[in-house]
Amino acid sequence: MPDPEGLLRALAARGAEPPQTLEWHARLVSTNDRVKELARGGAAEGAVVLADEQTGGRGREGRSWSSPPGGLYLSVLLRPGEGAPGLLPLAAGLAVADAVAESGVSTLLKWPNDVVAGGRKLAGILSEASTGGGGLEWVVVGIGVNVASALPLELRATATSLAELLPAGPPAAAVLAAAVMSHLRVWYDALARPAMVVQAWRRRALPWWGEAVEVRTGVGALRGQLLEVDDEGALVLSTAGERRRVLSGEVVRLRRVD
Ligand code: BTN
Repeated sequence: MPDPEGLLRALAARGAEPPQTLEWHARLVSTNDRVKELARGGAAEGAVVLADEQTGGRGREGRSWSSPPGGLYLSVLLRPGEGAPGLLPLAAGLAVADAVAESGVSTLLKWPNDVVAGGRKLAGILSEASTGGGGLEWVVVGIGVNVASALPLELRATATSLAELLPAGPPAAAVLAAAVMSHLRVWYDALARPAMVVQAWRRRALPWWGEAVEVRTGVGALRGQLLEVDDEGALVLSTAGERRRVLSGEVVRLRRVD
């Protein structure tokens, strides 16, 4: 059930500022879409939209995001300067990892920002930006956490939920949302020190370095050996002896490279 008062209480208990705009809907098509509307209407940075259920939840790389009741679906409006927006997805991943760590769940990050527990995906993040004549106008960071939702059959081998990981039960949505929002604030502010964010991200990354991977992007797939995440947050592969940077995509581990 929407619990905006509980969220405001949980934020206050952490000493965190309440957002100027906060909406918590029983059902929405997509919280990212709603925050985009707010952004176009001039909403201030920090506007937050949650939904108990999404009927058209969207994931990265054009995928859909299964959004039945029982998950956390939360989007935040940011208006970063030109500084380090390329690192924003990494910062958001760190924020979600820190938020779920408060419940005792340790996770690793899969580039750019999947939050993985025990080899299965616990949370995903979709960042969508708008640029205009003056450059970057706003970014919507949309976060989906599998809390207590019944995972669809086809996702059970690759996804997990807080309910599955925590025998005593997952935190209340309002408490988890407050944790996500306050850690996001911390990591967003940390973008003023980009090297620190990248280092923190590398420390918590899935240790796939040196392995053969395929990166699926909107324009095709690239195979190679995973080298690193560079200082701008790009994934770097070695492909036929050449260093190739990838800015967005889905990484899959391969048994061998043909
Ligand atoms: C991914 O593909 O891993 C990203 C998933 C992002 C899902 C969240 S749920 C809240 C927000 N609204 C959406 O439609 N998508 C994001």
